[in-house]
Amino acid sequence: MPSILSELDGVARAAFEALGYPAEIAAVRESDRGDAPYQCNGAMAAAGIAKKRGEKVNPRDIAAQAVAKMEASPAIGQLEIAGPGFINITPASALLTARANELLSDPAAGLATETPQTIVIDYGGANVAKPMHVGHLRSAVLGEAIKRILRAQGHKVIGDVHMGDWGLQMGHLISELAEEQPTLPYFDDDYQGAYPSESPVTMEDLARLYPAASNKAKSDADRMELSRVATAQLQSGRRGYRALLDHFIDVSVAALKVGYGNLGVEFDLWKGEACVDPLIPDMIEELKAAGIAEVDDGALIIRVNEGEKDKTPPVMLLARTGAVLYHTTDLATLVDRKTEINPDKIVYVVDQRQALHFEQVFRGAVKAGWYDRDQLFHAGFGTMNGKDGKPFKTRAGGVLRLEDLMDIMNDAARERLEASGIGAEFDAEERAEIARKVGLAALKFADLQNQRMTNYIFDPERFTAFEGKTGPYLLYAVVRIKSILRKAASMGVEAGVIDIQADTEKQLVLSLDAYGRAIELAADKYVPHVLCEHIYRVAQSFSRFYADCPILADDVAPEVQASRLALAKATLSQLEHGLNLLGIEAPDRM
Ligand code: ARG
Repeated sequence: MPSILSELDGVARAAFEALGYPAEIAAVRESDRGDAPYQCNGAMAAAGIAKKRGEKVNPRDIAAQAVAKMEASPAIGQLEIAGPGFINITPASALLTARANELLSDPAAGLATETPQTIVIDYGGANVAKPMHVGHLRSAVLGEAIKRILRAQGHKVIGDVHMGDWGLQMGHLISELAEEQPTLPYFDDDYQGAYPSESPVTMEDLARLYPAASNKAKSDADRMELSRVATAQLQSGRRGYRALLDHFIDVSVAALKVGYGNLGVEFDLWKGEACVDPLIPDMIEELKAAGIAEVDDGALIIRVNEGEKDKTPPVMLLARTGAVLYHTTDLATLVDRKTEINPDKIVYVVDQRQALHFEQVFRGAVKAGWYDRDQLFHAGFGTMNGKDGKPFKTRAGGVLRLEDLMDIMNDAARERLEASGIGAEFDAEERAEIARKVGLAALKFADLQNQRMTNYIFDPERFTAFEGKTGPYLLYAVVRIKSILRKAASMGVEAGVIDIQADTEKQLVLSLDAYGRAIELAADKYVPHVLCEHIYRVAQSFSRFYADCPILADDVAPEVQASRLALAKATLSQLEHGLNLLGIEAPDRM
């Protein structure tokens, strides 16, 4: 069945249509006044239309006529005309009951769209060998949520980590390794044999080699030149260097899989910039032949400004040195995705500071005729700042390492749990697991509940609070319902058919009913905060219901117990379903 809102919407539209007005003006929405859950403001618009036709009708009269038509519908509980002609709508209890029972059997009822698409989500974006920064964390958390939300709508969604593995950092690694271990076969031009399958470096080596080289290069131009040359030779296909790159990527991917895995983030594709290198020569030929790419001051560019006034700088395909750039690999990736996947849409979940880069790349791809502009979307986001208002750094002032951040959250969660005595009765292992989940939920929810584009301040103390709009508050709501269900089972009370009676029950069903709309909005604009709001609202509605309607008390009649318990169960399924879409996992108890 459709949602309660769309059921009522249908009734109102039919009534206005029958009165000779366009159906659209009768759209029903959640009310912002407290009188009834929904409202229809069609009468005001209808009066305007009537006036244009030369009729003189009062909007209250139109509202009265519409109400007379709507009343007959079994979906309607109560109708009331307010002010100049607002129609306040209360749905029939039977409708609430039917919808609640439906959600009980299928928490995802009404989420799927009718036209599934193939969508690539480009997120994560970690750079091989370079430490992650906070932007990578946000990209991973937001991208994962967006991916799951779109999947819940039935789309085929492919998440690609798109690693940065083709830049100067590779030249730094290669040249530094060459200084450390010059006798490795990778550096011997006369070496003909196969290279060892075993990597000559570990992740620790990479973590040491990169900063060593990049620090030296900062103050030593000759050292920088070595890295530049190594990068150029790698990019022009020097055999030993390519073999090294493969090792670096394998070693990094293994480490990134662990890091992202700990964060609960999974990718379908582990591709990167280096993967598309073989496509670049043909792509450049095509763009040149089509007259889209042109030589400008020795560089190869695509002009993408729209008109004289538009100052958007050109896409840089090849630098004057012939080097391939960030624009080039992103364009080649678009070619790769077109041939390998042919997606309906590609969404880039990347720091807002790269907005210009994507605008340029998208315009280039459109100009080349590979994509339509509305197939490409940059879902940018603001930064996670420290208390000083600058992008968050570790206490030592270093760039963020994901593990460090997770440790901070874990500690904050553990302290919070200890201070509030939550879970004190469990053994150490379970307490540690609870702290891990609470810390992660705190971090993710804090990140996701903001409007994507806003900056926010990293505040583990506030994120881990059990009160307010936080991850831990939501986990607590989930765990509380689970514990009610366990207690019910131990008492032999079973969930039955839901029968909606109390006001707080009605409110709860109306909250649950809004899930589909929240998902739709969140998916439409790639804004998971809308889903966060929804989940928070459901948790609050549940709290009010439970305070008002005890479930397992002995003075509650058995069929009422069964109904309330079932409503609690339906709430739990939706909370868990929604939290899962946000990538948040709740413990069984705490
Ligand atoms: N590796 C890039 C960085 O660290 C992010 C990659 C984003 N995705 C893309 N297709 N450009 O800034």
